[in-house]
Amino acid sequence: GLDAPFRNDELIDFTIPGNRHAFPEAIATVRAAKGKTYPLCIGGKDVETEKFIQSSNPADPDEVLGRICQAGQGEIDQAIAAAESALPAWRDTEPRERAEVILRAAAIMRRRQFELSAWQVLEVGKQWDQAFHDVGEAIDFMEYYARDMVRLGKPRRMGRAPGEHNQLFYQAKGIAAVISPWNFPLAISTGMVSANIVVGNPVIYKPSNLAPIIGYGLVEIFREAGLPDGVFNYCPGSSRDMGDYLVEHPKVAVISFTGSEAVGLRIQEKAAKVQPGQTHCKRVVAEMGGKNAIIVDDDADLDLAVLHILYSAFGFQGQKCSACSRVIVVEDIYDRFIERLTKAAECIKIGPSEDPANYMGPVVDASAQQKILEYIDLAAKEGTILVKRSVPEKGCYVPLTIVTDIEPQHRIAQEEIFGPVLAVMRAKDFDQAIDWANATRFALTGGVFSRSPKHLDQARREFRVGNLYLNRNNTGALVERQPFGGFKMSGVGSKTGGPDYLIQLMDPRCVTENT
Ligand code: NAD
Ligand code: ALA
Repeated sequence: GLDAPFRNDELIDFTIPGNRHAFPEAIATVRAAKGKTYPLCIGGKDVETEKFIQSSNPADPDEVLGRICQAGQGEIDQAIAAAESALPAWRDTEPRERAEVILRAAAIMRRRQFELSAWQVLEVGKQWDQAFHDVGEAIDFMEYYARDMVRLGKPRRMGRAPGEHNQLFYQAKGIAAVISPWNFPLAISTGMVSANIVVGNPVIYKPSNLAPIIGYGLVEIFREAGLPDGVFNYCPGSSRDMGDYLVEHPKVAVISFTGSEAVGLRIQEKAAKVQPGQTHCKRVVAEMGGKNAIIVDDDADLDLAVLHILYSAFGFQGQKCSACSRVIVVEDIYDRFIERLTKAAECIKIGPSEDPANYMGPVVDASAQQKILEYIDLAAKEGTILVKRSVPEKGCYVPLTIVTDIEPQHRIAQEEIFGPVLAVMRAKDFDQAIDWANATRFALTGGVFSRSPKHLDQARREFRVGNLYLNRNNTGALVERQPFGGFKMSGVGSKTGGPDYLIQLMDPRCVTENT
C-alpha cells in the first residue's frame, strides 16, 4: 500500500525457466488477438471514427497488428468537454484517494506485465528484456508518483510568526494534454499520464501513431482501476489533423510532451500564444532529444567500456533519447579501443526482436529507416566507415554503423540520428574530450570511463548534462534512483521519476489567517 516505501520493479531473470517460457507464450497470445479495431475512449465511452490507421510489426511490415481509430478536431472538442466536466470533482478528490487509484492501476499492470511486454516486441521491435523493463518503469512511475502525491498533498505550515497561521498547499492546474513518443511506449506515456492524473489534472492522451496499441493498454487498466469517467481520454490521431489544435486549445492548461526537439519547440511556441477565451498561462513540460557522448579516458577498463558503449549505442537500435551516439576517445588509448570495439561490434546478432538471441532488431518504421540510411551516407562523406553490418532484407532494418574521424563541427557529431550509428572522435587529452562532449546544443546524458579519481571529479563538475554516468552505460535510468531529464535543447521542466516532477503540474496556494 501507499505507506510502504517505494521499491523499483525487479529486473527480469531469464535463468528462471518460468520467465523464459512466459515470453513466447505471451507473444502467441498477443498474436492471437491481433487485427482488432481500437476505438477512442472519451468520457469513459468507446468512440469509433471513420478514419483509422493500421499498426504493423517493423520486423515484418506485412503483419498488421490492429486498426486504430483517429481523433480529429471534433473528437478533441468532445474529449475536452469530458475532461472539463470531470475536473471539479477529480481536482477536489483527496490526494490519497487519487493515489490509491494509481496504485491499483500499477497492480493491474504488474499482473499483465508479460502481455504488455509482448505487444512492445511486436509493435515497436523492442527486445524481451527491454520491453519487460519498459513496463517495469511504467509501474515504477505510478508507484513513485502516487507516494509523492501523498507527501505533497499535506498542507504545510509556513513560518512561526505570532498572530498568524500560514498554510501552503497545491492544487491541480486543469486539463492536461499528454503527447508521447513511441520509443518507451508504455513507460513514458504512463509517467506523464499518471503524474497528471494523480495531481488532479484530467488528461487528453495522444499516443504516438507508431505505438497506439501499447497506449490503448492504459484505457483498459484505468477502467479496471476504477478511475472516474472523463479523467483519462484516449485520443490517438494524426498530429497534422489535430496536434496544433490540441496544443492551442484554450481549455488546455498543461502540455506534457516527450519527443523530438523540432516538435517540442513548436509546441512551446504555440502554447505561448493566448487564444480567445483562454484564462490561464499554459505550462509546457517538454522532454526532447540528445546527442549523448561517452568519454574513454587513457586508463579506462576496456572490457567494461566496450560492453557498456555497445549497449548504450545499439540497445534498442540506438532509438533512445539517452543513447550514446558519440564516443570520444583520448588519443593514447585510441588504437586499442578501436580494435576491441570493432571486434565486438562484428559479433552482434541482428534480426527480429522476437528471437532473444538477437541483440539488435529493426528500427521502428520505413520512414525512420530511410532517414537513418541518409545519415549513414552522410557519415561516409564526413568520416571513415569502420563498421557497417549487413542486415536482413525484409523489415525495417538499418546497418549497425560505426564511423571514425568525426570532428565536433560535423553534422554527424551535432544532429540526433536516433538509430544505430555511432560516431568516434579522437581527442588529444581529457580536457579536450570534455570540451567536445559539451559542444552540442543538447544536454541529456553522458558517460565517462576512467580510473582516475581526478578526471572523474573533473567530469562531475564540467561535463554538463542532466544525467552523467561514471563507468557504466548511459541508458536505463531508474525511477527514484536516477531522476531523469536534460536541459539546453534537451528540454524544459523537472526530472521524471524525481521529487520535483509533480509540483510543476500544480499551482501552489498560500492561505494566511490572522489569529
Ligand atoms: P516526435 O517528436 O516525432 O513525436 C512525439 C509525439 O508528438 C508523437 O505523439 C507525435 O504524434 C506528436 N506530434 C508531432 N507533431 C505534433 C504537433 N505539431 N503537435 C502536437 N503533437 C505532435 O518524436 P518520436 O519520434 O515519437 O520520439 C523520438 C524523439 O523523442 C527523439 O528525439 C528522442 O530523443 C525524444 N525522446 C526524448 C526523451 C526524453 O526524456 N528527453 C525520451 C524519449 C524520447
Ligand atoms: N529513461 C530512459 C533512459 O534512461 C530514457 O534510457
